[in-house]
Amino acid sequence: MGKSSKDKRDLYYRRAKEEGWRARSAFKLLQLNQEFNLFDGITRVVDLCAAPGSWSQVLSRELQGKNAKIVAVDLQPMTPIDGVTTIQADITHPNTLQTILDIFAGEQADFVCSDGAPDVTGLHDLDEYIQAQLILSALQLTTCLLKPGGTFVAKIFRGRDIDLLYSQLSYLFERVICAKPRASRGTSLEAFIVCLGYKPRPGWNPKLDLQTSTEEFFEGADIGKAGNLEHFELPDDEERKIAKFVACGDINDVDSDATYTLELNRLALEPVQMPTAPPYKKALEMKRRGDLIRR
Ligand SMILES: C[S@@+](CC[C@H](N)C(=O)[O-])C[C@H]1O[C@@H](n2cnc3c(N)ncnc32)[C@H](O)[C@@H]1O
Repeated sequence: MGKSSKDKRDLYYRRAKEEGWRARSAFKLLQLNQEFNLFDGITRVVDLCAAPGSWSQVLSRELQGKNAKIVAVDLQPMTPIDGVTTIQADITHPNTLQTILDIFAGEQADFVCSDGAPDVTGLHDLDEYIQAQLILSALQLTTCLLKPGGTFVAKIFRGRDIDLLYSQLSYLFERVICAKPRASRGTSLEAFIVCLGYKPRPGWNPKLDLQTSTEEFFEGADIGKAGNLEHFELPDDEERKIAKFVACGDINDVDSDATYTLELNRLALEPVQMPTAPPYKKALEMKRRGDLIRR
């Protein structure tokens, strides 16, 4: 598929290149901010699963001149962004928390976001399970980093048992909203949980270490059994919760599922930032050398 054809099919992809964003995801965070004023008064920020870095670009731009500290974490290496400390690490590994804590030097975060998505295997149940684990890891880090009253935003896929996650989050935050920015395709199950007003569980001192499983970590919080959303159990008498659903972004803005006509002779722009270490890099090198033989 040529660049032009993707430009036609996805106006946010095209607009991202025109405006200098590394990924079209930038518009999702911008639209979430339009609805919830997420950036008001924040200076300590953690961007989890941040590569190639369009959310970090947005944060860096919005918090410019505010003496902000922004830490971006991803498995993939990231090309530097002004005002952002990048860490190449796995958010599911406890050592990553310590690295972030060291950078914050005793301060807590005002805002933690995660746009994490694992590489999809195509096996639906497995993909849903891994995504759920990634959200729980992001939530674990958040409970260790976020200040009371702080905000957590994370990508979710609205699968069968998502209401159980809403229930769990409602123990930890004043308000939990399921938000769908216009830049997120209507045909996709993707949405974002916007969790406002962090309320640490009384008497619970969350700590990540190598010996603790996700289930054990959340045990003290008493917010339901959290190892796997599929087998998630709520405390007795607790009902599943339905989060308020909010569509955000201008209704008159472009539709991410529509195909648009491009002006004649329009140049297809190069992406702002090519992937630094894409998973397909080895295959491309093998193809160039002629080592990739079809069997
Ligand atoms: C959709 S992309 C994020 C896009 C990013 N928000 C942006 O605006 O450029 C999802 C990212 O999640 C990262 N990821 C997946 N699992 C991870 C893990 N366990 N630890 C850290 N990053 C992870 C992937 O490497 C990928 O870069």
